[in-house]
Amino acid sequence: MASHIANGTARSLVDVEKGRISREIFVSDELYLKEQEQVFARAWLFVGHESQIPNPGDYFTSCMGEESVILVRDRERRVHVFLNTCRHRGMKVCRYDEGNATVFTCPYHGWSFATDGTLAGVPYLKEAYDDELDKSEWGLIEVAQIAHYKGSIWATWDPKAPPFLDYLGEMRLHLDNLLDCRDGREGGSEVLGGVQKWTMPCNWKFPSENFAGDSYHNISHRSVDLAGIGPSGRGRRDTDQHRASERLLISFPGTGHAATSILQGEDVPNTSFFGDNPVVNEYFEHCHEERKRRLGQKARVLGVVANIFPHMSFLARQPRSIAVWHPRGALQTEAWRWFLVDKDAPQEVKDALRHFYMRYSGPGGMTEQDDMENWGYASAASKGTIARRYPYNYQQRLGRGDTEGVVPGTVDTHISEENVRCLYSRWADFMDASSWDELR
Ligand code: FES
Ligand SMILES: [Fe+2]
Repeated sequence: MASHIANGTARSLVDVEKGRISREIFVSDELYLKEQEQVFARAWLFVGHESQIPNPGDYFTSCMGEESVILVRDRERRVHVFLNTCRHRGMKVCRYDEGNATVFTCPYHGWSFATDGTLAGVPYLKEAYDDELDKSEWGLIEVAQIAHYKGSIWATWDPKAPPFLDYLGEMRLHLDNLLDCRDGREGGSEVLGGVQKWTMPCNWKFPSENFAGDSYHNISHRSVDLAGIGPSGRGRRDTDQHRASERLLISFPGTGHAATSILQGEDVPNTSFFGDNPVVNEYFEHCHEERKRRLGQKARVLGVVANIFPHMSFLARQPRSIAVWHPRGALQTEAWRWFLVDKDAPQEVKDALRHFYMRYSGPGGMTEQDDMENWGYASAASKGTIARRYPYNYQQRLGRGDTEGVVPGTVDTHISEENVRCLYSRWADFMDASSWDELR
C-alpha cells in the first residue's frame, strides 16, 4: 500500500473524473503527517470568535491543526494568535481553556510573556545569563497573518497565503448566512455558552465531507426525524420550510469550499416555530419579515450546512453553529463546537436556542451521535490491508451540475457528491503543491 503513496502524488489517490477516491487518504499515517505541513500549515484556519475575548487580557486557547495556540487580546486591544509553547524548553505556557491574564508565566522555569507575546520576565536573568539574554528574540511565536470577519477570527502560518477574503471567494455569501443577524443586519453574533469538545475515532475528513455536502445520508437520522427533535417538535429541522423550497448543492472548485443551501420560494412564510413559546415565535416572525425587507431576493437563499476548506464546518440556520475537526492522528479527530446567537436577541430566545442546540448537537445531542457512529465504524472497517485496496465510490451526478445563475458556484439541485469531489480535489492540490504560488 505504501508504495503508491511514496512514489505517487496525492492527485493519483483522488480521481474525481471517475469518482474513485483511495481509502488511504482516510487511514494512512504517512499522508496524515504530510497534511500537517501541506494543508494545516498553509490554509486559513478558524481560531475563534471576538465575543470570546471582549476585554484586554482575555484569551481563548484554540488549535491550528494539531497545535495548541493562544488567541488573546493584548493591553492595546489588538488580537494575536501565538503558538502555545515556551521558547525556553517548549512547555505549554497556557494550560487553561480560556480566561484573563496580564502575563502568561511558563510553569517550568518561569519565563513570562506579555499578552502581546514579548518575553517580559526571565528568572535569574543576571545570575544565569549575565544579563545578556536578548529578550526581543525570544517572544512567543506568532502566526503569519490574522483576519477578522464579522466576529469570526482566522489565522494562517503562511505569509504567502492570499488575503482571507480572497481565500473565501464567493463562499462569503454562505458564511454571511451564518454570521449575520437573523433579521439581515450584518454581523452581530456572539458565542452562546462554552465550546463543546469531544474526540471521535475517525479521520478529520469524514466530518468535513459530511458538512461539505452529504445530502444522501438521511437514513442515518431516521430516528431523530421520527422523534421530531426540531425547534418545532416536528421534524429534525423546520420541515415545512424544507418542503416549500429547493435544495441547492453549491461548490467552488478553485477553493474547495462547499455549501448546501435552500432556495425558498417567493413569499414563503416564517416556519421557525419553537413549540408554544410566543416570545420566541414572535421574534423569529419579526426576523423573517425584516430579513426579506433588507435583503430582497437574496433573502431567499438560506444556508443549511457548509464547509470552508479544510475543516471549518458550520450550520447556518438551526442549530446555528461552527464546528472545527482538529486532526489528532490518521484515525482520531477532536471536534470543537461553537454555538452562535444574535447578541441582542432576548434572553428567552437565547434560552430556547440553547436547549435546542444541546438536544441536537455534540456528543450528547441526538443527531450528531448518528453521524459519529458512521464515521467511526467506517474508519475501522477501512484501515485493514485488504480494505485499503478498494477505493470509495464518489460517482453521484458526475459531470451533471445542472443549475446556472441562481447563485455563484457549481450548483446542483439533485442529491449529488459534487461538493465532496470539490473538497478532495482541493485537498490534492494542497498536498501536491510546493507553495501558495502554485495554489493560486
Ligand atoms: S520551558 Fe518555559 S521557562 Fe523553561
Ligand atoms: Fe448527519
